[in-house]
Order: sequence, then C-alpha cells, then structure tokens
Amino acid sequence: MSRVLSGLQPSGDLHLGNYLGALRNWVADQDAHDAFYCIVDLHALTLDVDPAELRTRTHDTALDLLAAGLDPDRCTLFVQGHVAEHARLAWLLECTATMGELRRMTQFKDKSAGKDSVRVGLFTYPVLQAADILLYDAERVPVGEDQRQHLELARELAIRFNHRYGPTLVVPEGSIPTIGARVMDLQHPERKMSKSVSSPLGTVLMLDEPDEILRKVKKAVTDTDNEVRYDPEAKPGVSNLLELLAVATGSTPATVAGSYQRYGDLKVAVAEALIELLRPVRERRAALAADSGTVPALLAKGAEKARAVASVTYARSAEAIGLLGPD
Ligand code: TYM
Repeated sequence: MSRVLSGLQPSGDLHLGNYLGALRNWVADQDAHDAFYCIVDLHALTLDVDPAELRTRTHDTALDLLAAGLDPDRCTLFVQGHVAEHARLAWLLECTATMGELRRMTQFKDKSAGKDSVRVGLFTYPVLQAADILLYDAERVPVGEDQRQHLELARELAIRFNHRYGPTLVVPEGSIPTIGARVMDLQHPERKMSKSVSSPLGTVLMLDEPDEILRKVKKAVTDTDNEVRYDPEAKPGVSNLLELLAVATGSTPATVAGSYQRYGDLKVAVAEALIELLRPVRERRAALAADSGTVPALLAKGAEKARAVASVTYARSAEAIGLLGPD
C-alpha cells in the first residue's frame, strides 16, 4: 500500500473548500492507502492566535475530521506538535532550503504583505510543511490547488537532500483534484474561499445548517448576461457554482451547465446538492460532540503510530547529514 500524508490547520470552522479540495479525498484514500493525516498546530503559530483558543480549535478540528469521515481504525490521525520529529527534520531542511526559494512562495508574499512585523515562522512555514510530508516517506499528498507551490518545494528539498547526502528521502507527488481544487468565494469569485479573508456570506462552512447554505448560495455573485455557461475566465461566479454542482453530483461543469437556463434554478440546484453532500457530516458532528471525551486517547494513539514512522526517517536523515548519533 502506498503511503499518503496530508495536513490541515486548526484555524476554526472548516469550509467547503477544505472539504472539496482535500477532505473528501482524504476519506477516499483511507482504504487503498496507508494514510497519515495531521492537524498542523505548529503551523498555526505563524500568525497571531490566542493560546487557549488554539488548544480548543485543535481538539475540535479532530472532531470535524472524524465527522468528515476519517476513521482512526483506517488511517493515522494525529497532532503535528505531538511528534517532535516534525520540528527536528524541519531544521535539517532549513539547512537545505535557500532564502531565495522561500522568498518566492506566493502564500508568504500574500500573508506578509503590508505588515511591518512578520514572524520568522511564517517565512519558514513551507519548510515545516516539507518536513511533515518527508518524515512519513509519503508518495502521495492530497491537497487543494493553493498548496501546489509548497509541494513543489517539498519535492525539490527531498531531491537536493538526496543529491547531497545520498538516497534518504522519498520524493512525493501531489494529488490535486481536477474539479473542486480551488473553490472560490461566493461573494468574490475572483479569490479562493478562505477563512482568513473574512467573507461570511461568501464562505459555506462544512457544518452550516441547510437554510444557511441556501441563503449563501442564493446570494452568490454571478453576472448580468444571464447565460448559464462554464467559462471560468469570463464568468467566474457562474463557473464556480457549476463546479460546485458538478463535484457534489459526480459530473462535469460543462455537462451540468446544459441542464439550466436561469441563474435562479442553478442556484437552487447547487444549494440542494451541497445540503445533501454535507448532511451526513453535520449529523455525525452533532453525534460526536456528545462523545468528545474520546478525542485525547484517540490522538495519543495516532501520535504513537506517527512517531514510530517519523523517528526512523529522522534518524536516517540525521545520520546522512552527519549528526553524531546518541548511541
Ligand atoms: P489549510 O489548512 O489552509 O487547508 C487544508 C486543505 O484545504 C485545501 N483548501 C482548498 N481547496 C479548494 N478550495 C479552497 N478554497 C481551499 N481552501 C483550502 C488546501 O489546499 C489544503 O489541502 N499548508 C497547509 C497545511 C499543511 C499541509 C502539510 C498540507 C501543513 N503541512 C503537509 C499537506 C501536507 C494549509 O495551510 O492548509
């Protein structure tokens, strides 16, 4: 079975972009692959976050992931900060990466733009992400489109490390869905749906109630020419809705476009499809909330399984780079 790894920040309520771009593929990958999924609490420290809130969010993100369909008996679900090797391998990789390549990262440019004070961790963020991936010898990394550049860096660092110190790290491949990889904000269809750029009406949350989903989709920005056609350049709002409908119903955007003449009908169909898609997630999440006492033990078990793999890769990497072993 090939090894899969992916990660998600504990940044609060998960949204439709997280679900369609990543989570539904994480769920699908549990059976055919040896899957490792981590809640990346260390990455969350790169921006300002209240300590108590971070702890709560990390815990609740585990419940959200279980509700989305992760099954700890079929995958390894853990918290990044519970496995010390993430930070340790990140250091070896920081001594492999260059300032120039980190400066080119578009997420760093976006998140640091206009700020007078930027944390060093925000700059080295993609190196920690590379460590997450490379520690587990991951062959496949299921993510949304916005992670493409970070994945390229992880590949590049593995190749460079192997070239300098001999074959040590597995070079991973990204796995980005053909549709749903970049869900756009319903109010600003020129930018991706995201929690950090606050647009409550433009962001469908994974746990939104049906009437909320209907309200947000009905208010989605389209355009004035009233033609239902898939054309992401010229018609970003309508095309985003068509992609959502296609991905929720297992079709293609061009095919679903043929079934609607009016924006109003399309919007109702999109809302209904999303409500049905997310209904089981919302129901499972409500049931899990009553049973949240099991989360610490479940995460401890996940960390133990993760550590067993991570410690071997770290020891191999430390030896290759020339660190004297402790024994
Ligand atoms: P994060 O927490 O921002 O997002 C988690 C996953 O959701 C995807 N995603 C989207 N997909 C489609 N449309 C959108 N609008 C959308 N918004 C988010 C992301 O692509 C991602 O797959 N740096 C990562 C976390 C990370 C990681 C890793 C990922 C840390 N280490 C190792 C993979 C492997 C991040 O901030 O994702």
